[in-house]
Amino acid sequence: MASQEEVFKKLVSHCKEYGFVFPSSEIYDGLAAVYDYGQNGVELKNNIKKYWWDSMVLLHENIVGIDAAIFMHPTTWKASGHVDAFNDPLIDNRDSKKRYRADVLIEEQLAKIEEKINKEVEKARKRFGDAFDEQKFRETNPRVLEHQKHFDELHQRYSDAMNAMDLEMLKQIIVDEEIVCPISGTRNWTDVRQFNLMFSTEMGSTADGTTKIYLRPETAQGIFVNFLNVQKTGRMKIPFGIAQIGKAFRNEIVARQFIFRMREFEQMEMQFFVRPGEEMQWFQHWKEFRLRWHKALGLGDNKYRYHDHEKLAHYANAATDIEFEMPFGFKEVEGIHSRTNFDLSQHAKFSGKKIEYFDPELNQSYTPYVIETSIGVDRMFLSVLSAAYHEEQLDGGDSRVVLKLPPVLAPVKACVMPLVKKDGLPEKAREIVNMLKFDVKTTYDEKDSIGKRYRRQDAVGTPFCITVDHDTLNDNCVTIRYRDDMRQERVPIESLHGIITDAVDMKNLLRKL
Ligand code: GAP
Repeated sequence: MASQEEVFKKLVSHCKEYGFVFPSSEIYDGLAAVYDYGQNGVELKNNIKKYWWDSMVLLHENIVGIDAAIFMHPTTWKASGHVDAFNDPLIDNRDSKKRYRADVLIEEQLAKIEEKINKEVEKARKRFGDAFDEQKFRETNPRVLEHQKHFDELHQRYSDAMNAMDLEMLKQIIVDEEIVCPISGTRNWTDVRQFNLMFSTEMGSTADGTTKIYLRPETAQGIFVNFLNVQKTGRMKIPFGIAQIGKAFRNEIVARQFIFRMREFEQMEMQFFVRPGEEMQWFQHWKEFRLRWHKALGLGDNKYRYHDHEKLAHYANAATDIEFEMPFGFKEVEGIHSRTNFDLSQHAKFSGKKIEYFDPELNQSYTPYVIETSIGVDRMFLSVLSAAYHEEQLDGGDSRVVLKLPPVLAPVKACVMPLVKKDGLPEKAREIVNMLKFDVKTTYDEKDSIGKRYRRQDAVGTPFCITVDHDTLNDNCVTIRYRDDMRQERVPIESLHGIITDAVDMKNLLRKL
């Protein structure tokens, strides 16, 4: 069986081969951690965005959307804290000239120790069989205890250093743990330095003087600075939310794992404004709602878990991640944060404007508290694709790669194929395409054998293939072939529209929420 790493490599090349994701400006050898979405990728991405948007704006009377500009007044980022504190600690290896995030190097070291413990446990499980008591083994085995002690001490030192952003301490941990550069294999490290993740550029011509502005590192601030505009023009009453989908930019030091960590990516964020003191109940509400949204796709309930934050940002009073089991382990896909009234208060302070809400029921004004749900479109895309990717052995020694995408998200819903390129079959097939294309993305394919055409559609995750044969001209029936179980059925042409639109209807998914 292929290792998870091998599966991931195959997934990355599958994405390129079948028009999902290409390296950016590839003819010039690409640009690190920047990617383009191809003809199938953009459809899948748009479907994910529609599912999110509809679940927020369509289903909730009290949530409205906006589309704020990427460029914002530079004071925005002073107020939000990004100019001063949106930093990663970085360290260089002098021999390989490679740059790393100091915190990532230490976290990888922690993961290695954890792996050693897990190996001991698995070895013992095999040895003892059914009689194995994992908890007792973990509490008594000397080797496990030794590793656990090492892990706990390191974890404590690391948390202390990160909480205090003590750069010398981070360096000392790397030295003490004898962490080597994966490229050069040496321990010739520089000191740890802070590195701001925001990209900046200049606005205005040099003759008039220029202003340094930033490419937004999150979409959320576009919502905060428009709080009053939306509240007043929409006559919104608390509690209410503002949703937005848009690009964000971060100059990530460790940018890898394909589209998991990119320098240009897309976020879907919703800020939900509530009465002070009611934030915890709304935090719980959105935590549950967001997990339901993920699970409704049917990718497997066991693939999700919450990760509650122990270390909170100074403005947050609760935070949790929804993690998804990617081929490289459980990873954050979405964050749900209770951000208090920090952002609105900061913008009030820096702009000199009063940013408050008059609550007619309480007959009082206050700065609303905020619950934020923030999900990366690209990470969502990666989680959907990694759950959908299957390599299957078929009867007769054949094999196929199939993307078992939720039909509602599939880039192409149906492909119509004439059995042969003559005898009026292509014309009949085109008629069916023309019937379906107003409701669902439909393609036409007449090249190669039917078997090869099925494989091509499996590879992009098309849920329905429709074959027109000679009998179709007499009985007006076609063969519909289902992607996941490869079942084939003879059905009248007039029933096709109903079968397909029913299976890919977003409403069915939204009703589960
Ligand atoms: N406004 C809150 C915020 O931006 P975050 O945890 O930094 O919070 C939210 O980001 C989500 O954005 C993450 O859960 C992830 O899905 C996505 N994201 C963040 N950085 C990313 C990157 N470099 N590449 C791809 N997605 C990213």
